[in-house]
Amino acid sequence: MKIIVIGTGYVGLVHAAVCSEFGHEVYGYDTDAGKMEAFATGRAEQIERHVNEPGLSGIIRETVGKYLHFSSRLESIIEGVDAIFLCLPTPARLDGSTNLDIYEGSVRHLAGALAGRKDKRRVTVINKSTVPIGTARHLEGLLEKGGAGNFGVCSNPEFLAEGTAVAQALEPDRVVVGCDHPEDFKILGQVYSQFKNHVKIKYIETTPETAEGIKYVANTMLLTYISFWNGVGAKLGEKIPGLDIDALRVGVTADDRISTWGSLVSNGAGGSCFGKDIRSLIYQLQRLGVNTKMLESSYEVNEYQKVYLIDRAINEAGFSFNNKTVAVIGLAFKHNTNDMRDASSIDVIEGLLAKGVAKVMAYDPLANEAAKEVFDPKANVLFEKIEFCDSPNKAIKGTDALFISSDCDEFRGVSGTIRSTVKPPYLVLDGRRMIPDYKELVENGYTYLAVGSTALVPDMPDMPDMPDMKDKPDK
Ligand code: UDX
Repeated sequence: MKIIVIGTGYVGLVHAAVCSEFGHEVYGYDTDAGKMEAFATGRAEQIERHVNEPGLSGIIRETVGKYLHFSSRLESIIEGVDAIFLCLPTPARLDGSTNLDIYEGSVRHLAGALAGRKDKRRVTVINKSTVPIGTARHLEGLLEKGGAGNFGVCSNPEFLAEGTAVAQALEPDRVVVGCDHPEDFKILGQVYSQFKNHVKIKYIETTPETAEGIKYVANTMLLTYISFWNGVGAKLGEKIPGLDIDALRVGVTADDRISTWGSLVSNGAGGSCFGKDIRSLIYQLQRLGVNTKMLESSYEVNEYQKVYLIDRAINEAGFSFNNKTVAVIGLAFKHNTNDMRDASSIDVIEGLLAKGVAKVMAYDPLANEAAKEVFDPKANVLFEKIEFCDSPNKAIKGTDALFISSDCDEFRGVSGTIRSTVKPPYLVLDGRRMIPDYKELVENGYTYLAVGSTALVPDMPDMPDMPDMKDKPDK
């Protein structure tokens, strides 16, 4: 099969690489010629400057020039194509609706390229990036208008989580294919021949609208589940001395029907999908006249969760942030990534600056450079108060408080750094329950305030045991 993947971001590049691994002839197309040159080298350092996913550069190195090619000229690769995947950015507008400008511009260009083909065989054009329900139908209209000729449209959403995208693309839990015509189901069946009739992988053939809906309902359900734990489980642990959130979590998720994923209470979920998709679904449902209170609550719980430890520090530990220096470690939206999209740290740092902190000492093992772009002093002069550090030690030294805002494994040992670098009184705000030996900290005079537990101010009589978190699910 000849496949073109339009858009080589994290979704498109992973998809192109994995399709080439399965022996298809794949062309990654992107308007960014520099990116195309970088990927065509097959060299890890060149590829990972743009997309850093475990296992990805290895596949590209093996298949590039043989099964996998890159081009920034669509017309030169269009002849003989069977399937075209659209993996384009679809950012959210302020009202939650989806901005399809980049997508539509790219589809118009594609329609022109398809209209100019000599070979008029059927081609299936597939929406892979998340687009509002009804977009496949819209795609059909745009291609028709552009004179594409002999094509079908399909929705085939991706369900990849960052950090495990390649492994998941090689062995997905399900493949969802939404088409109108048997010929398009056939073409997609050939693209995914290794997944059809697989004993473990669900291969679901349905309508385009259903496929589009599956993606939104899945992501909104996952965020709602996280918000449930943050909004109910964590709150019980924070209000009731003696209630151990970790034991509660183990007890509840022992039920096979209830997932351990999502039960790790946190200072909010971030990333490129959850916030954007729930807001988009709220927008889509409201336009259909549906009451969206439940989804609005999930979203609101998650948004406030990102900053609420700041309020707890003031209300439960009597801490004033005014003129203080605060370390924030864990800037990316989760561990093992440099992705800053919708990261809780953005709200945390903005919240601290709004409370009048004198300085923020920021650290992330992978995301410092990406974070510098987000916290650009040209966008907000207060960001001048942020200093980026290359170790937790340097970030914590000389500060009055620490905020742990993501789940990087190295933070589990940070209590040693705290004890050796700063003296009490000192406040630790733990947004990810990353300090298993928190008890020693409190015994040594440090104040410890974690999501899911009551505030532990030194000399307070009540200090429940926090079991270690060995049952932490893989993310
Ligand atoms: C997510 C979905 O998992 C994926 O299926 C979809 O296609 C895209 O969105 P991703 O954004 O890569 O993937 O991250 P994920 O690992 O799901 O985590 C999302 C956020 O939830 C992170 O901030 C993470 O730290 C947080 N999270 C996750 C929790 O706060 N608690 C948990 O128990 C699990």
